[in-house]
Amino acid sequence: MELRALSRLAVPAVASLLALTTACTGGTVQGRPGASGLRDPYFPKAGNGGYQVDHYALDLDYDPADGELHGTAVITARAEQGLSSFNLDLSGLKVEGVTVQGVGARYNRTGNELTVRPAEDLKKGEVFRTEIEYGGKPKALTDADGSKEGWITTEDGGGGAAGVDAPAGADARAGAVGVGEPVGSMTWFPGNHHPSDKATYDITLTVPRGYEAVSNGELRSRTEGPDGRTAFAWHSPEPMASYLATAVVGPYKVTTGRTPSGTAFYNAVAPGEAAASAGTLARLPEMVEWGNGRFGPYPFSTAGAVVLPAGSLGYALETQTKPVFSGPLESEELVLHELAHQWFGNSVSPKSWKDMWLNEGFATYAEWLWAEDHGGPTAQRHFEAFLAGDTSVDEEADSDWDAFPPASPPGPDQISDQPVYYRGAMVLHRIRQEVGDEKFFALVRGWAADHRHGNASTADFTAYAQEKTGHDLKKVWDVWLYGEGRPKQPAAPK
Ligand code: ARG
Ligand code: ZN
Repeated sequence: MELRALSRLAVPAVASLLALTTACTGGTVQGRPGASGLRDPYFPKAGNGGYQVDHYALDLDYDPADGELHGTAVITARAEQGLSSFNLDLSGLKVEGVTVQGVGARYNRTGNELTVRPAEDLKKGEVFRTEIEYGGKPKALTDADGSKEGWITTEDGGGGAAGVDAPAGADARAGAVGVGEPVGSMTWFPGNHHPSDKATYDITLTVPRGYEAVSNGELRSRTEGPDGRTAFAWHSPEPMASYLATAVVGPYKVTTGRTPSGTAFYNAVAPGEAAASAGTLARLPEMVEWGNGRFGPYPFSTAGAVVLPAGSLGYALETQTKPVFSGPLESEELVLHELAHQWFGNSVSPKSWKDMWLNEGFATYAEWLWAEDHGGPTAQRHFEAFLAGDTSVDEEADSDWDAFPPASPPGPDQISDQPVYYRGAMVLHRIRQEVGDEKFFALVRGWAADHRHGNASTADFTAYAQEKTGHDLKKVWDVWLYGEGRPKQPAAPK
């Protein structure tokens, strides 16, 4: 009672205080600071509150000889609240200057947070342009699970450049790759680094002559400068989560073409890996067409792959339109897996890192489907093999795939562990067993279509699956998706 009375009193008091401040600042709207993180359950500081990015224009000049990057990032965003300041995520590197709406802005840095205070507060709904000049030697990050991400220098891949000798003066580590799952993109560009904020991109990479520079989307232009440097302008017209951005620099061998239905592809292969990877890569166009049939239209205007020199990364990553692999690329399933992510993960992106199984469960299930459609074991056999620990069907069948429920990894170090992949795929197979093939494939295609270029959570998926199939799938969720312990063998499918 007392409290209520107090708050009723407080309203006019605050209002008059506001009126006073407004008078003092000549009518500017008062903003407040945007949040420094989006409270992701696993990475609470990832991303920032108060705005959403529409577009990133990144101009990155990289010198492989000394590992120095110089960047200009122009970020166009929309304020979701009145903002007196806002944050960007950036790790390492030196910020040389920031403007907002063309006017110099104050900024400071703590940890991986770059706080920008515009000269004038931003209004709710305002579209504003922030330009950040920065540079230095970008660094790799080591994730909680021990894997590397961020900006990683690479060997030149052997075999010399594609028709050009490696530039004189280049040392043995003659290239680099920028990747960012889950949080490494902040090591090479400032941004709102959380998958819930997707944006379009223009990434221009300027590198010494003799190097190729590859990024997401379509190559708009390749311009030789008078200074012996070449600028590669890459354009991504479809929205992209920042963890899927990539930049690859090195003496790559490039091949281009079109899939049978007309999607342009661009493959860049480290020269030393070309021979061993050619056969696998040759199947990419056919895989895109297969995906069109199974999952619905390929969600992007371009496709492709990058094969890095052996040992560059300990894993492959589904970077948008151009997944990256460490050479030699000999696994067809791996190409298929990263391609399937273009629908599941890249077009339909997780709302938080807790939803990772929606990426990996689908991409793994896609591998099982590809095998099923190409004379390999059926998905049912894969499913049974995991239950039986039969490694003759899948070498991961005796792994710890049942260690935790896929919808709730115990911590950030386990978001890429086996249950997220294999038990995630088994969740999908359990749905298929319950609803039958026709409804199951309608569900898969519907999911990709209805959330195309958006974000979705586990709760969105379970609700959608029930609605789309008309089946009560509560038991599947309780046991396979959220349940602790090893699920028992379900009854044989009808
Ligand atoms: N998303 C990648 C893929 O399965 C794997 C990334 C692994 N990252 C890691 N930190 N373990 O296609
Ligand atoms: Zn994956």
